Amino acid sequence: EKGEYRHFMLKEIFEQPTVVAQTLGSYLRQSDRSVALPQLDVDLGEINRVTIVACGTSYYAGLVAKYWFEQFARLPVDIDVASEFRYRDPVLEPGGLALFISQSGETADTLAALRHCKENGQTIGAVVNVPTSTMAREADVLLPTHAGPEIGVASTKAFTCQLAVLAALAAHMAVKRGRLSRAQEEEIVEHLLETPASLNAALDHDDDIAAMAPLIAPARDVLYLGRGQDYPLAMEGALKLKEISYIHAEGYASGEMKHGPIALIDENVPVIVIAPSGPLFEKTVSNMQEVSARGGKIVLISDAEGIAEAGEGCMATIEMPHVHPLIAPLVYAVPVQLLAYHVAVAKGTDVDQPRNLAKSVTVE
Ligand code: M6R
Repeated sequence: EKGEYRHFMLKEIFEQPTVVAQTLGSYLRQSDRSVALPQLDVDLGEINRVTIVACGTSYYAGLVAKYWFEQFARLPVDIDVASEFRYRDPVLEPGGLALFISQSGETADTLAALRHCKENGQTIGAVVNVPTSTMAREADVLLPTHAGPEIGVASTKAFTCQLAVLAALAAHMAVKRGRLSRAQEEEIVEHLLETPASLNAALDHDDDIAAMAPLIAPARDVLYLGRGQDYPLAMEGALKLKEISYIHAEGYASGEMKHGPIALIDENVPVIVIAPSGPLFEKTVSNMQEVSARGGKIVLISDAEGIAEAGEGCMATIEMPHVHPLIAPLVYAVPVQLLAYHVAVAKGTDVDQPRNLAKSVTVE
């Protein structure tokens, strides 16, 4: 039931603080601030590389996780969309963990890739939202998200719960591999436990985002920019917008702008910049200047510090709470979801059942 909400998508966006807390609750122990994965039959300390395979939004969750596996666990990560992976004869060596991320646990290409990896001796991990799904049954290591049923075709709460599980898994593997001291583990867990409160703070901006949606709704093309672990969010933002508002959108790495997409920039192309303040912020500011110099209209999604530094001259700004970089992708998912939602509402499209799309893609 939608309850007080106009659409399932909006309800599911607002459920995120609760379901992310639920999900984190089954992977972290609050009492001693440690990572405590459900009982596993496999020792993940023996894993020497990770292969991540998924589709759509679940693939973007995997792209974020690649940064975490590398940074915290120092594990090499190969990642691909399932439809490419399954036909490209990837190199799968002993000692590898193949990780499949799927809300439904039934996506045809992802399932085929899972079976291929199983036949090739990989340990199979599955991050799924439906515990009775085929992928859940076929995995050696089941890592459930506890998002509850997701009805809206555009995935929202499943994505942030996937990120929650993947962050805990990366931390677990880092501990197992001796890459995190006890104090560092405690610090990571503390930051993860702050996520639900930060998600609530992000949701407080729903009205501001609704108010600025009419500025984006008339656009024919929208560009999303992000850097580092926030780059996949640019792609996720673009996917959300195209799915439900039918506006053409692309997500790009900020630094790639001058290698092509800058040619598109004029006053008719809104550019959504996803940029928490931090070491890479200065670089993004210079990319923003390149956009402004060509008449581009910027929407900056950042924290108070970032907005104070670079907000002037933007068409609009959306202020996020100041958060630790680890949880930024979870928190910044909220404004990109809300922006797509409100633009779609402004355009009058069918938000929960967009044209040509199915919730579960069980054919190739
Ligand atoms: O059930 P899955 O997570 O395997 O589904 C993958 C994609 O089909 C899915 O994320 C799709 O891209 C969504 N409609 C995105 O909002």
